[in-house]
Amino acid sequence: MHITGSATIAGVIGNPIHHSKSPTIHNYWIQDLGINGVYVPFHILPEDFSTVIRMLPKIGIKGFNITLPYKEAILPFIDTVSEEAKKIGAVNTVKINEEGKLFGYNTDGEGYIEHLRRSIPSISFKNAKVLLVGAGGATRAIAYALHQANVASIAITNRTLEKAQQLMQDIAPSIEVVPWEKRNDMLEGINLLINTSSLGMVGFPSLDLNIDALPSDAIVSDIVYKPRFTELLKKAEARGLKIAEGLGMLLYQAVPGFEMWFGVRPEVTSDLTKLVMALSHE
Ligand code: ATR
Repeated sequence: MHITGSATIAGVIGNPIHHSKSPTIHNYWIQDLGINGVYVPFHILPEDFSTVIRMLPKIGIKGFNITLPYKEAILPFIDTVSEEAKKIGAVNTVKINEEGKLFGYNTDGEGYIEHLRRSIPSISFKNAKVLLVGAGGATRAIAYALHQANVASIAITNRTLEKAQQLMQDIAPSIEVVPWEKRNDMLEGINLLINTSSLGMVGFPSLDLNIDALPSDAIVSDIVYKPRFTELLKKAEARGLKIAEGLGMLLYQAVPGFEMWFGVRPEVTSDLTKLVMALSHE
């Protein structure tokens, strides 16, 4: 890596930040593409957040990712918030222009859709009858992107009903909200099941869902990537269903930001996937 005085600088802001995979992803691309640039992790405490954000344009940084717990807190500092970030209520990618103005985007949903397209090229979004499990930030991004992709229908079930109802009101009134207790009764006819909750992640219980009623051409996807193959994905594979594993969303959400800052659209290669997968087992 050769960094000169004209290097392009980007980074990621969070608290904590040591676990972030973004520096690995972006610096892999920087090196792979021979770019004169660097992507840096910034651990920023809440009391310093506003000072740091105001300072970033003044040190010539081209933009940054924003992660927990600041994806909502950043909103008041953004000069132009994109349509999807407004709807989702969170920003994960910021571009700083020549005048020091901040442009905020949310690339999680777009990244997830791209991941699905690449993992399952035969997927038809227009015919997809989707059930989403969860109603957190990730669910909001995915629900928005699926709605934009004109899927046939979206239903959502979540332990806390009110959060699912709020999501429906914010994202699209056509979304059907299914009470948590009824989740097993509505799988018939669903051909895209996505776990967007924390269930199945290391340290959380697994998702208690009987997938026997899913049609034989259904796709099952999980955004949990630790472990790589969740109980849900194992059950789906045992039934011979197509699966899309969790790491893809993390990798593909990084693509638009990298392109904005460094001017080249990078590829999610199998080497990059292996590298990030190895990190998530550390
Ligand atoms: P993110 O921003 O990554 O989506 P989040 O906002 O913390 O994360 O959302 C976590 C999701 O996992 C929520 O849908 C949460 O359900 P609640 O809205 O009821 O909290 C869900 N979740 C986490 N632990 C759960 C559990 N033990 N049982 C059921 N759902 C759970």
